[in-house]
Amino acid sequence: MKILVCGKGGSGKSTITAVLAKNLIDSGYRVLVVDADESNFGLSAQLGLADPKELMEQIGGKTELKSRMGRVKGDGHKAPVFSEVWRIEGIPHDILSEKGNLYLLRIGKVKHYGEGCACPMGVLSKDFLMHLSLAPKDFAIIDTEAGVEQLGRGVAEGVDLILAVIDPSFESIKLSEKISAMAKESNKPCYFIINRAEGITAEKIAAKIGKAQVVGVLPFSASVQEKGLAGDVLDARSLDVSSVTSFVLRLLDKKKANA
Ligand SMILES: Nc1ncnc2c1ncn2[C@@H]1O[C@H](COP(=O)(O)OP(=O)(O)O)[C@@H](O)[C@H]1O
Ligand SMILES: [Mg+2]
Repeated sequence: MKILVCGKGGSGKSTITAVLAKNLIDSGYRVLVVDADESNFGLSAQLGLADPKELMEQIGGKTELKSRMGRVKGDGHKAPVFSEVWRIEGIPHDILSEKGNLYLLRIGKVKHYGEGCACPMGVLSKDFLMHLSLAPKDFAIIDTEAGVEQLGRGVAEGVDLILAVIDPSFESIKLSEKISAMAKESNKPCYFIINRAEGITAEKIAAKIGKAQVVGVLPFSASVQEKGLAGDVLDARSLDVSSVTSFVLRLLDKKKANA
């Protein structure tokens, strides 16, 4: 099952991606984390993994990608970037950081002033996810750039679930409306995780975004903040994401039953 994690900048997307990945591993699953954030570099440290070589670099950079994007199939339709199916075990080791059942693949980062927009990374993410074939005990968690840019590029096409992280701010709640609307357009189920809030504050947020759509409420944690400041690794118990873990495992069972 492929899960796209989105939300406002700083809401906790990467933190939740890392902790959820580790909980799923503890439950006996294999997890491929896809770093699809073009700007931020902290996810590998949160996972406790080395920085892998980027997929963008591996295929020959933006120039090669653009030439692949211009290819047309015999029927006149645009050809996909990849013709091959990707499986976790088939991903070359130099573009994968791994430890046990945890794997990290990095799509590509913006590196230079004036290098142009990050749209090619969006195309690469979308195409990779569409060609990613997971085994029954595999999860892919895709950690994205802040905001709705990636949804605007259609990156959700190849995923099964959108999880949006909401922090206690007006901006985050406004963004959740946009994410819900875009998820509907993409025909993908969309649920919310309220982060850095509890009690009455969390209730207020849930009432605004719709209680039935909330699958987790995570309080502020001083130790997570400390680890975030130091760039330290997070573990499965850094935040209690058990309700989110159970939710995605239930969804996976349903998906298997419907297959
Ligand atoms: N529940 C939490 N309690 C305390 N700090 C948190 C919590 N969730 C995230 N943070 C901190 O907030 C900062 C932003 O989180 P991050 O996951 O990088 O956000 P995003 O990926 O959405 O930009 C990090 O320094 C992280 O340690
Ligand atoms: Mg992040």
